[in-house]
Amino acid sequence: LSASRCDPDLPIGVFDSGVGGLTVLRSIRAALPHESTIYLGDTARVPYGTKSRDSVLRYSLQASHQLVERGIKLLVVACNTASALSLPELRAELAPLPVLGVVEPGAEAAVAASAAQRHLVLATEATVGQRAYTRAIRALAPGADVEELACSLFVALAEEGWTDGAVASAAARAYLGPVVARPSAEWPDSVILGCTHFPLLADAIRAELGPGPRIVDSATATARSVAALLARDALAAARGATRGNLRLLLTDGAARFARLGSRFLGETFAVPDVEVVDL
Ligand code: DGL
Repeated sequence: LSASRCDPDLPIGVFDSGVGGLTVLRSIRAALPHESTIYLGDTARVPYGTKSRDSVLRYSLQASHQLVERGIKLLVVACNTASALSLPELRAELAPLPVLGVVEPGAEAAVAASAAQRHLVLATEATVGQRAYTRAIRALAPGADVEELACSLFVALAEEGWTDGAVASAAARAYLGPVVARPSAEWPDSVILGCTHFPLLADAIRAELGPGPRIVDSATATARSVAALLARDALAAARGATRGNLRLLLTDGAARFARLGSRFLGETFAVPDVEVVDL
């Protein structure tokens, strides 16, 4: 490791295709309040979830380099699509910088939460196309039954702020109705929110599924993995009395991001808090 990369005082870099990764950032800041963070949302090119692998890979490399140039001690790929499509390439390109995605922590949490190892993964079209969750779950529980379901419309609903009410319920019914209609023996006992936007729709998803299945949120699981990695590599910041800094970078649309983002992050921020960058 170069000296600067080893510095525990450097921020944790977090990148996502847009506003959604703020749900992951929120979990990281809740679990590790004294850590500084720098977030990059590629709002000019969101969504990644309907794009080709080549495009997602190129965008992910550009976004990561932007954060690395500013100095970070760890990169969190807080986007399921980017994690599913580009994690090995990012790790190879950025080594020895540690790079953590959201798929492996989510898969780990799901395996731990499931008695029957019958999993349903809700994600974007691109993530589902890679079957990354299926591989990650089966690496831990080889006989697991894993079904992946593309629910791309949930992304737009979360961006619009329509996370409850009739439209959210109708979308949840359209996606999950066929699963719920099966005989109960064929139901999943774990449902993974495999997209950064989906924790905002957790209530609508829960209402459709009923109380049975465990709903696993990869954002919380990722925050635990971040904490474990920092401890393992002696990279944790000193625990001071002050809260860690937060810097926000975007590739477009600071006003929209400020309006939407507070809901995802659970903290309010304004346009002057956001820096617009060109990748
Ligand atoms: N951040 C993406 C994910 O978690 C969702 C939004 C998008 O499609 O870019 O898959």
